[in-house]
Amino acid sequence: MTIRHFLTLKDLSTEELTQLTKRASELREMQHNGELYQPFKGKVLAMIFEKSSTRTRVSFETGMAQFGGHALFLSSRDTQLGRGEPLPDTAKVISSMADIVMIRTFGHELVETFAENSSVPVINALTDSYHPCQLIADVQTYEQHRGSIAGKTVTYVGDGNNMCHSYINAAVQFGFHLNIACPEGYEPDAEILKSGGNSVTLMHDTLQASEDSDLITTDVWASMGQEDEQKKREIAFANFQVNDKVMSAADKEALFMHCLPAHREEEVSATIIDGKQSVVWDQAENRLHAQKALLEFLLNQ
Ligand code: CP
Ligand code: NVA
Repeated sequence: MTIRHFLTLKDLSTEELTQLTKRASELREMQHNGELYQPFKGKVLAMIFEKSSTRTRVSFETGMAQFGGHALFLSSRDTQLGRGEPLPDTAKVISSMADIVMIRTFGHELVETFAENSSVPVINALTDSYHPCQLIADVQTYEQHRGSIAGKTVTYVGDGNNMCHSYINAAVQFGFHLNIACPEGYEPDAEILKSGGNSVTLMHDTLQASEDSDLITTDVWASMGQEDEQKKREIAFANFQVNDKVMSAADKEALFMHCLPAHREEEVSATIIDGKQSVVWDQAENRLHAQKALLEFLLNQ
């Protein structure tokens, strides 16, 4: 039996991803109705965090508890990983005990190395290059409010970072068009951009990129690990804020999303993130349901 991992959205087919967002909505309904659904009693999710998290930790841990299983929080500060134990050794040991593993770390190659040495499924819970779990929740949230995202136009405003890269993958996998508006010098990785083909258009003008868009999304200007660049980035990104003017350029039914945490009056104005078009709280909640669907998919292989 081959083990399925979820390191990027490309690890699942379009059909599997579509089924996952549908299942996430069913799990949301079940949870809201107070239905007890515990198919994973005795199963253990090991969660390795080398970067901070609120949503990812709470959603995975809560999801596993709701499923009747258990989640282990492992930070590199408290494990031998932080003292230099080789990643392949760690992967062999953890996967010999846990049923599934989730990792948030820096270099994407670290999750790849872990997966190569793991005897159980591995989930990428954010690397410097990708954040695929967030995208399942984002698509689920769009579809909850507006129906299928296929054929729609999505605009990502901001840094060509992990979120931007996962949006490029999502455009291909879910069949929407992605406009990216980023400052010069902050473009997404050239190879990843190329893999987006005709599904992606790169621009440097926020208003132009937002025109008639069905969904506007953004992310922080300085990601985890880039804190030293905050000041420099505030200058570079000054024209890349999602505000009333930008939302007015989009379709009048357009939604606003942000993976959070957000910095009001930096990448987004308070009027937008706290306004009527914003679905950020549903989006955050859907991390729980989307990842439960993902856990179920990977554990049932
Ligand atoms: N969006 C997201 O992944 O949030 P956390 O960093 O709080 O997990
Ligand atoms: N790009 C951000 C996303 C946080 C969820 C970061 O990597 O810090």
